[in-house]
Amino acid sequence: MNSKDQKVLVSTFEKEVYEGLTAFPKYLSSKYFYDEIGDELFQQIMALPEYYLTRAEYEIFETNKSGIIRSFDANKKGFDLIELGAGDGKKTKVLLKELQEEEYDYTYVPIDISQNAVDGLVKNLNLEMPEVSVQGQIGEYFEVLDRLQHISDRKKVIMVLGSNIGNLLHPRAIQFLKKLCKAMHPEDLLFMGFDQKKHPQKVLDAYNDKSGVTAAFNKNVLARINKELNGNFDLNKFMHWETYDPESGTAKSYLVSKEKQTVDIDNLSLQVHFEAWESIHTEISQKYDDDIVKWLAKESGLKIVESFSDENGDYKNYVITKA
Ligand code: AVI
Repeated sequence: MNSKDQKVLVSTFEKEVYEGLTAFPKYLSSKYFYDEIGDELFQQIMALPEYYLTRAEYEIFETNKSGIIRSFDANKKGFDLIELGAGDGKKTKVLLKELQEEEYDYTYVPIDISQNAVDGLVKNLNLEMPEVSVQGQIGEYFEVLDRLQHISDRKKVIMVLGSNIGNLLHPRAIQFLKKLCKAMHPEDLLFMGFDQKKHPQKVLDAYNDKSGVTAAFNKNVLARINKELNGNFDLNKFMHWETYDPESGTAKSYLVSKEKQTVDIDNLSLQVHFEAWESIHTEISQKYDDDIVKWLAKESGLKIVESFSDENGDYKNYVITKA
């Protein structure tokens, strides 16, 4: 591969696409799956029969809503319920309804990288639950954490659901948890979803659905490069490939070039050469068990105080405090 001429890369997207596609082996970040189309595809993924994660977490919320709220230990004094990576908020609404019924005083602060997702959620909540005080915010996880401390001086319950932490490798997850720990006061809580290790085939199927929605979701990063950076990826010349290593608990998504080809990305003045069957690594979806979560918490200055599981034991939500 070679760059046609020197160019100043302005946006993070430009810089990271350049870095990832000129690296060996090639990679792109899964955070770039999400635009209006990616958000819609992710909604479809969450409704797929193979994608058990969303249903499992929803079951935990439905079955344990009062227990979960009790674990927040909020004393009805008023608190901020901050959700990082809020998406469509479907599961959270179960808690919001319960909090309303139990007459808690709280503000719901959904934060997402996708403007589209936050706008949709705030609009929907204003219509469906007008009595809930909502303050939507846009931002990337790591950047948002710096702002967290200053959101208010009330007790904070910070939720990271959907096993979103699983899209970070352990060292980065620890960095993220350490930042969360730093932003927390002693009375604040973390409420986090961690997808659990299970039959490897079940994991593989969840990320390799028969209808091809996950493949389209994975390829959306190429579609975005075409649209936003004037690229000419032929999406049909790439295939979605999933692996799962039961030892590490890491599921990995790739885009594999089906033939030798060259792709132009005009805004980066870049030509990218692919050998036949060369891959672009696009996503990791980490699976956990209690020991791994305990270890992550310990490494980050945190500790687990309680957990909630679905009936199958596929998925767990952990209540975590400062150690
Ligand atoms: C958002 N994240 C936790 C999802 C996951 O399970 O890793 C994204 C996803 N990728 C493919 N399917 C769903």
